[in-house]
Parts: sequence; C-alpha cells; structure tokens
Amino acid sequence: MYKLIAFDAYGTLFDVYSMGQLAEELFPGHGQAFSLMWRDRQIEYTRLVTMSDPNPKGSKHYLPFWELTIRSLRYVAKRMNLNLTTEFENRLMGQYAKLIAFEDSLTVLKSIREKGISTAILSNGSREMLATVVESNGLTPYLNQVVTIEDVRLFKTAPQAYELLLKRFQVNKNEILFVSSNAWDALAAKWFGFDVFWVNRLGHPFEEIGERPNYEGNSLSKVLGVI
Ligand code: LAC
Repeated sequence: MYKLIAFDAYGTLFDVYSMGQLAEELFPGHGQAFSLMWRDRQIEYTRLVTMSDPNPKGSKHYLPFWELTIRSLRYVAKRMNLNLTTEFENRLMGQYAKLIAFEDSLTVLKSIREKGISTAILSNGSREMLATVVESNGLTPYLNQVVTIEDVRLFKTAPQAYELLLKRFQVNKNEILFVSSNAWDALAAKWFGFDVFWVNRLGHPFEEIGERPNYEGNSLSKVLGVI
C-alpha cells in the first residue's frame, strides 16, 4: 500500500496550457504555438542548467524556475518576432503565478488525505511561486509538504530531485506513488524507482524509450482507483 502520493505541479495539478488563452489574446493567431514553445523552452533550460553541471551540491548555472520561466518567455517572443512589452510580460507572468488548478485537483488531494495517506508536491518550481499557486487554489490544507528542487539546485530529471521525497518523508521508495502528466517526468520517476501514475489527459503516446508507467489515466481522479 502507498503511504505517500507525490504530485508534479505544473501541468499535473495546475493547468499550464490555460496560458495559451492569454497568449492568444496578446498575440492573436499565435497563442497556441507561443505557449507550447514557451513550455518546451522553459523545460529545456532546466535540463541545460542541470546537465551542464550535475554537481551533487547543485548546478553553478542554477536559476530559480521562476526566472527560467521569464527568460524562456523572452526567448520565445524574440524567436517568434512578437513584441513582448513590459505590460504583456507582467500579465503573462502574473497569470502564471496564479495558475488555476484542474477541477479535480482539490478533491483528489482531499480524498487521499481522508484515507490516511500523505500527499506532497515535488516540483521544479521555486519555493515562493509554489507557495503562491498552492495558496491561491486553496490546496494548502490538503498537502503534507510542498517539496521544491530549490534545495538541491538540480532540476528534475536529476535523481537528486526525486530523492528529496525520501529525505522529507519517513517512507520507503516502494511506498511512494509519483503522479505526473509530463511523460518525461513520469519516465524519470520510474527510472528512479518509484511507482508512477501518468495522467494522460490528451491521449498522447508515452515516450518511446524506457519503462511504461505502472498506471495511466485520463484525469487526476483516476489516481483514486489505484490507491
Ligand atoms: C514541475 C514541472 C516540471 O512542476 O511541471 O516540476
């Protein structure tokens, strides 16, 4: 039986693709491409920072996820030849700070806690941005801990990032179920040794390398069926 269910944050509990709507309002005709490229570049920067100095004491290239999110936003605007004014940047980052949780995020966390099982977030996000988004969605009472990789200054998919859960909770590796909608995150958590639930809302194929997740479902609520 699982003693801890740990969730990825962005894309899993919080709807990052809702950023596409605001991007479309600011850059008509480009919203979807813009938001997808923004997300990809943001994650690419986390990998660049981590792989270029995978020092167990933290990467010397480390910048907080909030900062990487701004830098990737600026990059994508330049790359797509779109005029990112200060006002647009502030609006986009303001919305990112207060992303809306998926409709079942709160009820799923609450149900898990009612079963006497612990809940956590394990995210690349920086402490402050996670605190803001968790609080603005009313999730604080239903999370035992919000764990950020800021403590190791190595982003997922570094093993040290996943290992943080073992340091924060008195549980064995096989007592943790890790939940992510990001296939790369699900795969890396599986490689690390966790059981994994992949939330596949859009019916995407899984990665073509590595092991399959233990479970897959098209919504967060499906997690309740396996615990
Ligand atoms: C996170 C991003 C990667 O929350 O989704 O860690």
